[in-house]
Amino acid sequence: MESAVRKAVLAACPKCASDVCDYLADSAVAVLEDENDKEAFQEALEAATAPFLEEYGVSAAEVAAFCKVVACAAFPMAKVSSKAAKAGTDDGDLLCRLPNLMMMYGGSSQPLLRNATLELIKGHRYGIVGANGSGKTTLMGRIANKDIAGLPAAIRVVHLSHDTIVQGVNPTTSVREYSQLRSASDSASPDDALLAQALTGVGFDEASLGKTVLELSGGWQMRLALACAVAQKANLLILDEPTNHLDSAGVQWLIEFINTRCVGGEEGGTAMIVSHDPDFLDQVCSDVVHFTSDARLDYHPGNFTSFKNTVLKGDQAKATALLETGSSPAGGVAEGSKMLFPSPERLGSTAAERKSPVLTLQGVSFQYNKEEEKSVFHDVDMQLSMDSRVGIVGKNGAGKSTLLQVIADRMRPTSGERWYMQAAVGKAARFRQGFDSETPEKDPKPLTESQKADRKRLGMQFGKKSKPMQALLGRRETFKGGYGESAAGSSKEYTYEVQWEGLGDAEISWERKGKILQCGCEAMLEDLEDRLWSAWAGVEQRPLSTEEILQHLGPFGLPEEICLSRKIGMLSSGQKIKLMFGAALWTRPQFLCMDEPTNFLDLETVALLQDALKGYRGGYAIVTHNESFVADVCTDIWTVADGQVWGKDAVSKNNNNNNNKKQRQQHQQQ
Ligand SMILES: Nc1ncnc2c1ncn2[C@@H]1O[C@H](COP(=O)(O)OP(=O)(O)OP(=O)(O)O)[C@@H](O)[C@H]1O
Ligand SMILES: [Mg+2]
Repeated sequence: MESAVRKAVLAACPKCASDVCDYLADSAVAVLEDENDKEAFQEALEAATAPFLEEYGVSAAEVAAFCKVVACAAFPMAKVSSKAAKAGTDDGDLLCRLPNLMMMYGGSSQPLLRNATLELIKGHRYGIVGANGSGKTTLMGRIANKDIAGLPAAIRVVHLSHDTIVQGVNPTTSVREYSQLRSASDSASPDDALLAQALTGVGFDEASLGKTVLELSGGWQMRLALACAVAQKANLLILDEPTNHLDSAGVQWLIEFINTRCVGGEEGGTAMIVSHDPDFLDQVCSDVVHFTSDARLDYHPGNFTSFKNTVLKGDQAKATALLETGSSPAGGVAEGSKMLFPSPERLGSTAAERKSPVLTLQGVSFQYNKEEEKSVFHDVDMQLSMDSRVGIVGKNGAGKSTLLQVIADRMRPTSGERWYMQAAVGKAARFRQGFDSETPEKDPKPLTESQKADRKRLGMQFGKKSKPMQALLGRRETFKGGYGESAAGSSKEYTYEVQWEGLGDAEISWERKGKILQCGCEAMLEDLEDRLWSAWAGVEQRPLSTEEILQHLGPFGLPEEICLSRKIGMLSSGQKIKLMFGAALWTRPQFLCMDEPTNFLDLETVALLQDALKGYRGGYAIVTHNESFVADVCTDIWTVADGQVWGKDAVSKNNNNNNNKKQRQQHQQQ
């Protein structure tokens, strides 16, 4: 109980300095020793901490809210057990009670629920647990759509799942407009004061209210949806994997939000929560609802740990299985299955060449709007090789997804330079996310006799140290002044990496197109451009024959009979995920970019992905908020914050700032 109290203090602490948190945690633990009743504990904690917190400018209301959260964590069962002691439940406290519930899943003959009772009591926070495919998401969806006979019409349900937040949103809708639309109910316009308070509460300021919803990062979209839920005065909040997309500060905010909001009464509500994260459930749940193997709903007062200890007798494997969150009831990933990513063609023949960067970005900045003062990131140098195992981390809205899009060549930087590995290989155009194996056509075309003669003659006149150009090794792009996803107003200039005849590697230089033409090497230039074009356009793709496809999908855990005879709609969620990875890796890429890949994967599939990445022979950069995932599969952590990027192979130059080193250390500690 002591650790739950400490956790709750850290989560809800109204001042974040760590010494303040420690002091509050010690005080709470000391109070806990004397009090064994929730109300008395809360009162004593208020008396002990209010004078201290008031000195820090914390209001009396904030102190009360804080003490309430900690009391809920310390006595998670208090409310329930006193209710349980009553004969039956007081009808005034009931949100709904539906006995003999039967729930089917489209097409399946086995019901997901049979003779089950759905009973929700006001102010309770239910953690919904059940094996993969047991029907958690289906039940929550049906309640949200009021698609269950007998569900009282008066219940105001808000269903939050990330998929539904931006569904159908117009690209020009601002955060302000969205929040007003979504907070209005059928019969009433939104409560402006409450909405403004809720938006400020989740961290929006005046400037961000003017942004469009689609401009918000994933985490901020989730915060926006939560603020709208508050303003709608929902009395039943349904949260499906709410911590996905949230950074750690966002998760702490959400814990506090649920614990202070979902406490019953007129203003507060009831919550149903599906999450794969046992720590999160422990900090928010007053009860656990268990989808049993015989299709009933069992109710257990207390948080997830108490459920695990009492009902599961501490069995960790069973506990993990009950937190699985695959979306389809048709079965998850088959037991014992494996996923192997295809080996990419190695670039370079020596170990040093193989370690050299396949992608280099130098002095790169990215800005969405010309009008905005700040870039998302500014003047960053990065290198990525086939050995890179990069985890990109940072707060919501820091710029991680933007950075990944620039790396993946989905968006052009506003300024800076980008080039792909060529020098180490000596041949152009081998690297592309998904580019396939070497073919002879990719080697440079031999020059004709007259082209050779021009090259020699003009080389003596215009070449470096009067030497002709021997080969063009690569091309570098320099960007200037493009803004946003479409890179509006941008200019792009190419320079070429030139090897000079008779001069060593140290003399290799980057030259403009004019110089190459001047040196009589137009044919070489055209040949390089041609090979780059065909490589980048993926002209020389793998043949799409059945045999090739079966061979490719087999290692992803998709056997022949599934590939040949099943429609995609008939695949289980695990099989769909495998197919998605299979499709993404069809070109046998040398470098993978993934943005929050673990969201919405069940734990078993996350483990499969971890194994696949560990065995993968290419490089990768992965954006994620999942700390244990990063710790397991990444060896270089890049932190994105305040327009800067810090990591082993990423450096923000930001010359105006003398405190770079200190900032870097701070970011890394965070
Ligand atoms: N299309 C866009 N137009 C304008 N601004 C945008 C656009 N997309 C993102 N932004 C802004 O750029 C910044 C970085 O966003 P980004 O999505 O890269 O963050 P993130 O680190 O991935 O956050 P999260 O963890 O929440 O996913 C944010 O301030 C965001 O509001
Ligand atoms: Mg993102």
